[in-house]
Amino acid sequence: MDRHEWAAQTLSVRPGDRVLEIGCGHGVTASHVCAEPAAGPREATQRFVGLDRSAKMTAAAVRRNAAHVAAGLAEFRTGVFPAADLAAGRPFDLAYAFNVRLLWTDPAAARAVAGLLRPGGRLFVFFRLPSWSPAAHREVAAQAARTLTAGGLAVTADAQDEAVESGYVTALTPPG
Ligand SMILES: C[S@@+](CC[C@H](N)C(=O)[O-])C[C@H]1O[C@@H](n2cnc3c(N)ncnc32)[C@H](O)[C@@H]1O
Repeated sequence: MDRHEWAAQTLSVRPGDRVLEIGCGHGVTASHVCAEPAAGPREATQRFVGLDRSAKMTAAAVRRNAAHVAAGLAEFRTGVFPAADLAAGRPFDLAYAFNVRLLWTDPAAARAVAGLLRPGGRLFVFFRLPSWSPAAHREVAAQAARTLTAGGLAVTADAQDEAVESGYVTALTPPG
């Protein structure tokens, strides 16, 4: 299992979840999220939005996820978070980002994600540092936890997995 598949499994997408990925890159994690059996029966309604500031990345993500896009399950947008307008449609149930530094350093970005999530919605901030070190990962996790808390989210867990040399922090928006 690679880090993308690990992240998709960690998310435990629930049937009917509307999911946002910030900084989706080539759409590799997205391809696993959209293929997750836990996502339940495919619906005609769009359920996954991937955002990246690079048009080259979103074009690559669309190519990689062409079947999911054609099925109406996924869409990929080019835009800069948090400026990009993502508010249309029902609030997201789940948002995540993998290796997008903004999400563990900028409380305003965390607050902006919280504003797009439904009450009780989940945010996962994944990271893989250039070289594996549990201490360095713990440091980033602590920074992420402070950032998410300052952004108004309630941190519920953090973990790291040496097998994929990655870690994450997860948080919930207030119940409303
Ligand atoms: C290090 S790459 C990670 C890509 C992918 N998530 C992965 O794990 O392979 C970071 C990605 O986030 C995008 N990105 C960084 N800051 C962003 C922002 N503020 N808004 C939208 N995309 C952003 C970059 O264009 C890049 O594709």
